[in-house]
Amino acid sequence: MQPLRGRRILLGITAGIAAYKAAELARLLIKDGAQVRVVMTPSAGEFIGPLTLQAITGEVVRDSLFDPAHEAAMGHIELARWAELVLVAPATADFLANAAAGAAHDLLTTLCLASTAPLLAAPAMNQAMWRHPATRANAQTLQARGVELLGPDDGEQACGDSGPGRMLEPAAIHARVREFFADGRLTGRRVVLTAGPTREALDPVRFLGNRSSGKMGFAIAEALVAQGADVTLVAGPVALATPAGVRRIDVDSAQDMHAAVFAAVRDADIFIACAAVADYRPATVAAQKLKKGDSETLRVDLVRNPDILSDVAALAQRPFCVGFAAETHDVAAYAEGKLRAKGLDMIAANQVGVSQGFEADDNALLVIWPGGSVALPSQSKRQLASGLVELIVERFDAQTAAEDPR
Ligand code: PMT
Repeated sequence: MQPLRGRRILLGITAGIAAYKAAELARLLIKDGAQVRVVMTPSAGEFIGPLTLQAITGEVVRDSLFDPAHEAAMGHIELARWAELVLVAPATADFLANAAAGAAHDLLTTLCLASTAPLLAAPAMNQAMWRHPATRANAQTLQARGVELLGPDDGEQACGDSGPGRMLEPAAIHARVREFFADGRLTGRRVVLTAGPTREALDPVRFLGNRSSGKMGFAIAEALVAQGADVTLVAGPVALATPAGVRRIDVDSAQDMHAAVFAAVRDADIFIACAAVADYRPATVAAQKLKKGDSETLRVDLVRNPDILSDVAALAQRPFCVGFAAETHDVAAYAEGKLRAKGLDMIAANQVGVSQGFEADDNALLVIWPGGSVALPSQSKRQLASGLVELIVERFDAQTAAEDPR
């Protein structure tokens, strides 16, 4: 059995002593059926010969952004699009710093910027470098963007030191890659999801907002990744870490969220709108801080925001659309109305109020679709998210089978 059969993995190798282990890693991936293309940073060749990797992968190894022969064939943008996974092993402190800064100094960092594929990186460096606050901050920045760091291991180092910084053994990295591609019910499916609140500016320092914490949406993102989905999370301003393996786009206002969703939703199979999007925004945003003045009242004119969910559901080529309904009363009736009015495939309704639905760690949902419904009782948002994703998968599979009954 070849569990990685046909998977497209871009293996990035940076200039560390552990680079020699990348040959064994490439061999293990190829043995499992993966297609592996290797990109080295210019100095990585000091530690391992490109010919070795070319012999193992059967592909020409690339190390230059300015290579006319390669750019004429599969250019760097095509290579970035080709990859289902970018795996950097070893990942030096310099690579982590460049990736965190969004630098495009060489072919590998450029590909990391240009690719929307998930990035796994196996750090390898001297223990003092790994412990340095700059590296710690870079690692945290990358993790907050959904980059998964594999290791490092603790132990004897090539320089004679002992401590954290050894690259994980190729077998352990290979095991994680297998896990990454393990068949979930949404493997190969792209999901775009909104979460959190929006902020609608009144002036440079004030906004209209709401109490959404993002907990429900982030838990759904995690449950989708566990089912193997490729997840893009468009998040309003929240104080939550990005779940591993999730591509996150931070936005502020409803209009920003609309633009970010439409930039991501083109190839999506499923769209889930969990964000608490402001229905209205101030008609004008004051250029300077509003002054109190003498009046006891302040009148603010509001204009309607675009409805992101309705606009996605109205696309000619549309994904399976799941909405939420936050209601203080008559939950089922209002949710059914929204399901019909917005032309949705499914809606998850929750009763909201003081410490209910919004902000809380627990929640309950009434999930409704044309012709059926299920009540998911009160439980943690993480458990609830797994139950909701199960229902989405069932309805999505049923709809896909009905549309293409082969
Ligand atoms: O973030 P938490 O603190 O964990 O709280 C979770 C939650 C209560 C925010 C969540 O469970 C929830 O109910 N989210 C939807 C909140 C909401 O705005 O509901 P609504 O009934 O007003 O909107 C209906 C649907 O249209 C929603 O899917 C919403 O995302 C979408 N919408 C609304 C307005 C708009 N301009 N664009 C939209 O896409």
